[in-house]
Amino acid sequence: MMNDMNRQKNLGVIILAAGLGKRMRSPLPKVLHEVCGKPLIFHVLNQVRKVNPSASVAIVVGHGREKVESYLKWEPFFKEMDLSFVVQGEQKGTGHAVRCAMDASWGESRVKIASPILVLPGDLPLMSPRLIEEMLEPLASSSVMRLLTCELSDPSGYGRILRRSPDGPVIRIIEEKDASSEQRKISEVGASIYLFQSKFLKNSILTLSNKNVQGEYYLTDLVEKAGSGSEPIEVLKWREPEDLRGVNDLWELSQAAEIMNARILKSWCLQGVKIIDPKSSQMDITVELSEGSVLYPNVTLLGETRIGRNTSIGSHVILKDVQVGDSVNLKPGTIAEQSKIESEAQVGPYAHLRPGSHVGTGAKIGNFVELKKTRVGSRTSIAHLSYLGDAEVGDQVNIGCGFITCNYDGRVIRGERKHKTIIENEVFMGSDCQTIAPVRIGKGSFIASGSTITEDVEEGSLAIARSRQINKAGYAQKFKKNSED
Ligand code: UD1
Ligand code: MG
Repeated sequence: MMNDMNRQKNLGVIILAAGLGKRMRSPLPKVLHEVCGKPLIFHVLNQVRKVNPSASVAIVVGHGREKVESYLKWEPFFKEMDLSFVVQGEQKGTGHAVRCAMDASWGESRVKIASPILVLPGDLPLMSPRLIEEMLEPLASSSVMRLLTCELSDPSGYGRILRRSPDGPVIRIIEEKDASSEQRKISEVGASIYLFQSKFLKNSILTLSNKNVQGEYYLTDLVEKAGSGSEPIEVLKWREPEDLRGVNDLWELSQAAEIMNARILKSWCLQGVKIIDPKSSQMDITVELSEGSVLYPNVTLLGETRIGRNTSIGSHVILKDVQVGDSVNLKPGTIAEQSKIESEAQVGPYAHLRPGSHVGTGAKIGNFVELKKTRVGSRTSIAHLSYLGDAEVGDQVNIGCGFITCNYDGRVIRGERKHKTIIENEVFMGSDCQTIAPVRIGKGSFIASGSTITEDVEEGSLAIARSRQINKAGYAQKFKKNSED
């Protein structure tokens, strides 16, 4: 649990987020690539927020800095946090990035406060709050830094930990590119997570050199400089390698997403949600579910989606920013975005709810029905093959098969021109009807099948808008005879 040290106001945190991210082969700054619906940098900073929301955090930005800064300034999760941005004009390595932070007024004041400084990379999205809590345990008075290491079955790409003897003190971290083939066999790696005594950091960061294969100032070289005290470096050896997966390319991004997704699904399962096939289900970290709900295979739940209790979510359902009530039945293939589905409704199979749709309590939206900016009242049924756009449909309305709201008149004024259709309570709309908007169908009226309604219909009326049928006796036989001649 959080101790007083973790809660203390003076904690300084530096997050490194300026790197070029060359290995990502993408124009998007690396730390803005998303894992389970939020950028890499979100996941790192969010763990800090959980452990110490009042920490003073310097984010070192450089490559794509406008994008990184504007994302962090607007992210609602962080609006209460004390964030500063430090610019690293040229990306000369992780040591140089930390130097930029220490040279800035942010770093100056940290040294005056003599608080500890936690350094985190911006590309480790899986670290847990517990890891940060343990890193923040007070340093012994003789130590100048704490270093987090881990044994990996495949250490490639990481800096290797050199010890004086197998369990002896750490003497150096050697980057893979600078390591000999013998050194590359070492499976203990550094994770770029450090707690420094601020004075030591301020002084030693000035002494880094860039004489290495990459010509960069390595933060890892501080380990060698840590001094000669009896225990100058504390080591926290982490036992859960998954927490330390770094993201340097798109494959590592996919792997991190797979691990985080599995963690999210597991956590919902333990809170009473049944997930039939976790391997094929995908869920953003921002989604919330409730006890008693079931997810069938291949479900994708994104953004601010909220699912009530005892709701069934069929295979191949995709929901983004959708609020779903209790005891709803979402049948296979339903796709919905920025919409609301009230309790006990049934939707699908293969229904499409575009932004601004609202399905009322106990309503039924059947197969191949598309809604857009449309409100459907309670216990209304739109069971088959229909399109409703910019419409308001009342309670207990029955819409027959193949109904269309003709909401667009073909003219484009200021980007769009759509008209409203209002269908009041208890209307019966026969099959294969169309309404030409703007139009109002009054309460309890009855629209005959095959009608094209162009004018408002009064409450309680019957509207028939189709040509009368003419039966011509014997004509079929006559036609047949003529074609045989
Ligand atoms: C780094 C460590 C390595 C460790 C690994 C763990 C160094 C030299 N190497 O390697 O020992 O095993 O992390 O994941 O520290 N950054 C800047 N400015 C720069 C360069 C990088 O802000 O000039 C930022 C990046 O945006 C990134 C972080 O620092 O968030 C780490 O940089 P990266 O290039 O990913 O280092 P690794 O090769 O992963
Ligand atoms: Mg990295």
